[in-house]
Order: sequence, then structure tokens, then C-alpha cells
Amino acid sequence: MVREWDPRTASSAEIASLLDTLNAVLAADLPQDPPWRESSLREYLTEVMPGERRISWVAQEEPGTNGAPGAILGQVQVLLLGDIGVLEVLVHPSARRTGLGRDLVRTAARRVYQEGFSAIGVEVVGDTPSVAFYESLGFTREYVETRSVLDLSVVDWAELAEMATGIGAGYHVEFHPGGPPDELIEAYARAKAEVRDVDDGELRPSSYDPERLRDSLDCLHRRGMKPYIVLALHEQTGEVAGLTEVVVPAQHPTRADQYDTIVVQDHRGYGIDRAIKARMLLELRSAEPDLAEVQTWNAQANEAMLKVNAELGYRPDRDWCEYSVDVADLVHRLDASR
Ligand SMILES: CC(C)(COP(=O)(O)OP(=O)(O)OC[C@H]1O[C@@H](n2cnc3c(N)ncnc32)[C@H](O)[C@@H]1OP(=O)(O)O)[C@@H](O)C(=O)NCCC(=O)NCCS
Repeated sequence: MVREWDPRTASSAEIASLLDTLNAVLAADLPQDPPWRESSLREYLTEVMPGERRISWVAQEEPGTNGAPGAILGQVQVLLLGDIGVLEVLVHPSARRTGLGRDLVRTAARRVYQEGFSAIGVEVVGDTPSVAFYESLGFTREYVETRSVLDLSVVDWAELAEMATGIGAGYHVEFHPGGPPDELIEAYARAKAEVRDVDDGELRPSSYDPERLRDSLDCLHRRGMKPYIVLALHEQTGEVAGLTEVVVPAQHPTRADQYDTIVVQDHRGYGIDRAIKARMLLELRSAEPDLAEVQTWNAQANEAMLKVNAELGYRPDRDWCEYSVDVADLVHRLDASR
């Protein structure tokens, strides 16, 4: 049975059941990834940026004879932002290839269509069943990135400390746990607005103006995701010349996510990328002692950044793709296949 589901009001047993399914999916499809934890999972599923909406449905087994709620075997959610719906679908490995994934997508797609959105986008992880699944539904690949993972247990910390100081004269590097200080928000947003050649994919939009940036930091905190920032300040102008952002999510705190890394055009060639990323890892080592890995996503064409990441010890892990589909086409195709 597929029904609309609001994580805000869901019982703790349902949240725990969804977590079990998510971890079964990870064990089947991404066995090297750490399992997720329950901490802040409800907030992770609930909180959104102003102007965005997330709608969710679950496929749940019938209640047991003792009245215990049935397990959640599948979930679909769609985040409505700008003019697209960003889809996420999970089906427990024990319930796959029965058409459940397709039913979940049909339910979400119809709503996205009714809401007047024209396109649906989805992140698809390479070498998992998702690739064949979304291609069978008519989604096409828009963009490919490589995910790389850094295992902190093999990092040469002395070498890293040297990299952290290898920056041209005239720059000052600062570490800010929690986000940039308020007096730097405007300069920070300017750096992000100028350069969009980032570590990030298009389904994870960056924030380019101060208000949006504040909202985005606030949303991260509410979702239980702690941002850390290292920035390089150009001493002469006070401008933010470079920045790097890492987020430690309460849901998988042993593996952090690298978000944007940006070096503003005029300040390239001074070793800023390498120095700020190295400084970040050194800071995280003491700020987050349980952290074991950091993962990052790069466009395959971004050779300069890939080179620095390789020097830091990142190893390519898998393709991470963005697929999209026209909503009306998807709804027609799914209705015709019933
Ligand atoms: C992708 C996923 C949702 C598919 O769910 P599902 O219920 O098995 O999909 P369906 O049964 O509706 O399959 C629909 C069609 O997709 C295609 N398909 C799905 N899985 C496939 C596979 N493993 N190999 C080949 N084709 C596949 C087939 O064409 C299938 O139709 P068919 O069974 O009639 O041949 C499921 O595998 C899943 O949850 N994967 C993890 C997704 C995810 O987000 N992961 C993130 C962390 S890895």
C-alpha cells in the first residue's frame, strides 16, 4: 500500500523502520558507505529551505495481527524547488523487482505534474540498480560527476600541515565551525556568486546571495548537519579569495560531505585550493575525532581540483549522475505501462 507520509507526525517506529530500509539499501548497493543513524533523521526528512516543499510517500506492509505497524518497504520523496522536482526513491532489497519502485515514482510524478512542475531530476549512483531503473522509465543522463572518498587513517598529517601553509603571501586563512561569521557573509556570498566552478552538482544548489546563504546555513543546522568552513581572506581588500565547506551530518557522522570549494578567478595560482582543503582536514581532525572519511563530488572535467584532491589522498569511488525527465512524458509512460 502506497500512502502519503509526513515525517513530521510519523511515529518513532515508522522512522526506525525507514532507517532499517535505508540501511538495507546501503548494504546492498553501497556496502562501503557507513550505515545511517537515527539522530536527527526526522529533522533531516522534514526541514527545507524557505520556498521549498518536500512531499513523501511510503509503501508499508499491513499491520501485524498484534496491531504492530507494518514495516516500511519503500519510500519516495520529491523536493519541489525552482521549476523542478528532485526525486529520491528507496525500495528494500527484499521487495525489489515487483514493480514497487515504479509505483512509487508514478505516485510522486502525478503530484509533481498536478503541481505544475515540468521536469523531474534525480541523482543516480553508478553501478547500482538505479541506473537501469531510471533508464527504463525514460530518464536521460544530464551530467556525471565522480565521487571520491578520503580515508583519514591513511593521511600523512605532517605533509598535510605543510600543504596548509603553502599559500602565497597576502592571504590569511581562517577556520569557522558552524559557518562564516556574520560580518563575512556578504563577502562570502560574493565569492560564491562569482565562481560556479564548484565541487557540487546541479541538484545541490549553492547559495549566491547573503540572505539565501543565511537560510541555507540555518536549514543545514535544523537538519542536524554541521557545517565547517575554511576561507582565505585577501588581506589587501578583505575579499574572500577562496573557501571550502565540509558538512558533518548527525545521520552519518563518521563520513563527512565536502560541499563547495571555490577559488575566485583573480586569486587562482597561489595555492589556495590545496591550502584551505589541507587546513580543513587538520581542523576536522580535532573538532570531529570520530570522523573517519570525507567524500567529495567533482565534475570529471575539473582537472585542477581532481589533481589537488588526489594529492590530499582522495580516491575515486564511483560515478554520480544526474538524470532528468519531462514530467508529462513520465506520467504518460507510467500510466500506459499499468
Ligand atoms: C532503483 C530501485 C528504486 C528500483 O526499485 P524496484 O522496486 O526494484 O523497481 P521495479 O520493480 O519497479 O522495476 C521497474 C523496472 O526497472 C528496471 N530495473 C529495476 N531494477 C533493475 C535491475 N536490478 N536490473 C535491471 N533492470 C532493473 C526494470 O526494467 C524493471 O522492470 P521489470 O522488472 O519489469 O523488468 C531500487 O533498486 C532501489 O531502491 N535502489 C536504491 C536507490 C537509491 O536511492 N539508492 C541510494 C543509495 S545507493
